[in-house]
Amino acid sequence: MGYLFGLVGYPAKHSKSPWIHEHFLHQHSQQGAYRIFETSPELLRDQLHALKLVEVDGFNVTVPYKEEIIPYLDEVDEYASSVGAVNTVHVKDGKWIGYNTDGRGYVRSLLEQYPDTKLNETRVLLLGAGGAARGIYRALSEVGCPVIDIANRTASRGEALLSLRCEGTHSSVLSLAEAENELSTYDLIVQTTSVGMSPNEDNQIISLRNVRDRAIVSDIVYKPFETSLLIEASSKGARVLHGHGMLIYQAALAFEQWTGMSVEADHILTKFEQQLKGDTTC
Ligand code: ATR
Repeated sequence: MGYLFGLVGYPAKHSKSPWIHEHFLHQHSQQGAYRIFETSPELLRDQLHALKLVEVDGFNVTVPYKEEIIPYLDEVDEYASSVGAVNTVHVKDGKWIGYNTDGRGYVRSLLEQYPDTKLNETRVLLLGAGGAARGIYRALSEVGCPVIDIANRTASRGEALLSLRCEGTHSSVLSLAEAENELSTYDLIVQTTSVGMSPNEDNQIISLRNVRDRAIVSDIVYKPFETSLLIEASSKGARVLHGHGMLIYQAALAFEQWTGMSVEADHILTKFEQQLKGDTTC
């Protein structure tokens, strides 16, 4: 029999998730499959009811349903509920339990690449305030980052993130111009918007002229692999964190939630990096 996992989203057919999860299954010599349940908005309700009848062990949820899935769940864990979005559903004793592994996946990708990072001493600048930023903000606050400032084009959206703050984190909302000027005060800069994503590869959300030497600059965009922001970061002596790690580690955390087995993601990370560098269609 083996495990059955899946993905609910729209569009979803080009997702890398089947490839990633089949790799994890193989790593543990487990039988199983990961299916794509591409579901248009008008069919979401019926598709989810149909999914309740299938013996699925767990599934991921992607755009545009990370919030819409919540009313269909029996339980939502505390982190996902505070972020207001679910990307992982674990089916346990017939119950659908919602989790969110995006932000924690980001933190794991950071620590896997830079294990010496002392997050409780790290001053963070978050660029953007959309769905991805919410998850990352909460995850970084939860692990004790003392400062997480938010710079967003629209100030009111930046302010909305402040309700996700855990005790011990201080946050201010800045304009993108202010962030550019203050850049040297941050140890970690996290770009969470789609600015710079292919085909608009020349776009860059802020200039890094004031970045501190050895700061970590990370971009969640992974197509192109080297975004314009990361190219500038390297040229200024900063360290970089590429965007594909978040995708791989959010999947690793979902797999661990579903199976109770821990995964080692180095190999797949390298393979994915090779694909991104060599093949723009992957
Ligand atoms: P996601 O869920 O993928 O994070 P989103 O909720 O639409 O997507 O959020 C997109 C983020 O990218 C927002 O922070 C948005 O800024 P606004 O809140 O001002 O809209 C930011 N963004 C998108 N395009 C941008 C651009 N050209 N310049 C600056 N910020 C941009």
